Amino acid sequence: MTLPDLLARTWTNWLALPEGFDGRLLGEDMQGTDRADFRWLDSAPTYYGWYYALAHALRPTHIAEIGVRYGYSLKAMVEGSRAAPNGAHERLVVKGWDNESYVPGCLEVVRRMMARLQVDAMLYSLNTQGMDRLPAKNVDLFHVDGDHGPVAFLHDMALARQCMAPGGWIIGDDIQACGLEGGARSCAQQWGVPYVDLPTFSNGRNGLCLMGPLP
Ligand SMILES: C[S@@+](CC[C@H](N)C(=O)[O-])C[C@H]1O[C@@H](n2cnc3c(N)ncnc32)[C@H](O)[C@@H]1O
Repeated sequence: MTLPDLLARTWTNWLALPEGFDGRLLGEDMQGTDRADFRWLDSAPTYYGWYYALAHALRPTHIAEIGVRYGYSLKAMVEGSRAAPNGAHERLVVKGWDNESYVPGCLEVVRRMMARLQVDAMLYSLNTQGMDRLPAKNVDLFHVDGDHGPVAFLHDMALARQCMAPGGWIIGDDIQACGLEGGARSCAQQWGVPYVDLPTFSNGRNGLCLMGPLP
């Protein structure tokens, strides 16, 4: 699928809020004080709808993410892929990395969530900045949302690139909010991949970027 084809298939979905997707439920697995952090999800459908809609259109069987936290984006991608006609069901492989620096123990919440969804997710608590390779290959859809420093972001993008299947797609988060546009675009240019900034409404200018299909 080309980038224009993918946008044609997801744009309406995103604006209409994808059928079957309720962003407010992304935090339903959180417990106790963690729940205080999830009121902002009321406005998140315009943001997380992209993850759902893109996974729905791409039907990835192998999803990966750097920066998992409570797993909102991971869950939106899993649900989008599963809801697609002929989408990934039993075959779904999910991998995630997070050093749990924002929320100690957050991956345990995500493990419970994925177990309830009957997804066999491999979630690793580690600092990706100390890695020169990640144990993943043939990834169809990779979300980079870890350390938002410009150098750290480029490091994570390079890690993601090594894991990708031909035809795979990479999403980057907080691109505008963190001044990462130049870095994200330079990755796409260097790899010869079409690139687009996606609009998001959640708090003004967080901004997702999307690039693919990877050669
Ligand atoms: C913005 S949050 C991710 C939010 C999540 N993707 C979502 O939308 O639900 C960024 C996450 O990256 C993690 N992180 C920050 N620096 C990291 C590093 N060097 N290695 C691994 N994870 C890191 C933080 O612990 C945090 O959970």
